[in-house]
Amino acid sequence: MKMIVYAVEVAERPLLERYGKQFGWELTLLAEKPEQNNAAQAEGMDVVNVLSSTYITPKLLDAYRTGGVKMVVSRTVGVEHIDVAYANAVGIAVGNAPYSPASVADYAIMMMLMVLRHIKPMLLRYAGQDYTAGYLGRELPNLTVGIVGLGRIGETVARHLQGFGCRILGWNRTPRADLSDLVEAVELDELLSRSDIVSLHLTACPETEHFIDVAAIEKMKDGAVLINTARGPLVNNSALIDALESGKLSGAGLDVFDGDRLIYYRDFKNQLIAQRQMAILNAMPNVLMLPHMAYYTDQAVEDMVRNSLDGAARYLNGEEDPWLIGEKV
Ligand code: COI
Repeated sequence: MKMIVYAVEVAERPLLERYGKQFGWELTLLAEKPEQNNAAQAEGMDVVNVLSSTYITPKLLDAYRTGGVKMVVSRTVGVEHIDVAYANAVGIAVGNAPYSPASVADYAIMMMLMVLRHIKPMLLRYAGQDYTAGYLGRELPNLTVGIVGLGRIGETVARHLQGFGCRILGWNRTPRADLSDLVEAVELDELLSRSDIVSLHLTACPETEHFIDVAAIEKMKDGAVLINTARGPLVNNSALIDALESGKLSGAGLDVFDGDRLIYYRDFKNQLIAQRQMAILNAMPNVLMLPHMAYYTDQAVEDMVRNSLDGAARYLNGEEDPWLIGEKV
């Protein structure tokens, strides 16, 4: 079984070698991201293994198909960067690779605390040797956190928040009655109106695009904080900027923003980035922006590598692949 792995990072190499042997793969490892100009290298491969920083377009899938590729597996949870329907239509299966939800959950909580305690301006001020007092923080035991999306990550945020003594509200499209000891299940509007912090844990799909827009922000509590460690397109940038400028929202923690896909995981040193909304948000002292690193822990990276190699091997061997997305083809 042959697999080409694109966008390989240093931390992944030993894991790919170890799990490659374990699951019987002959691996070709490439540091480049999967793009049209390196599609030819996938010729003769059974599986193409990708990350999410480029789009796996119909044109790219056609090239993979011509080269005999049977499956594209993404070592990510989200697969909205892959045109799954098109892949399946041309006979390519698609898989993902879930990983430790604590990676993203703990980072979301870290961002909540950093925004509440004004850590961004404090660090900037410290760098300028200004050690004067200031920046009055807020304490979690006095606050209500609303978790939007109670999948594996949202549930872990709730579990890990328990020790902080805050009130925890939760909303999920399909109600999670099993979490009634952990979160107070409420309707979305109620969550938005009662939460001091709203943390997003939804997948990106057409239904969740701009889930937080002008109307949703209008329903939010005055002075609330928005945390997005999920996907950029969940939040309408202009609506968020307006809400921060007017003071309707008191801060935001953004590990992602709408438009980040072709910016993050790249080096723009000494270059101008033509993304004004990113520049406006990043200039705000109460907006903490980080480059989509919530997932990046030793445990999660190991899970991503292992599960992508395990799932694809199961698929090719005709076994049940627990991480197949879309159709068996
Ligand atoms: C995902 O797994 O969906 C992520 O967000 C992590 C990815 C950017 C590597």
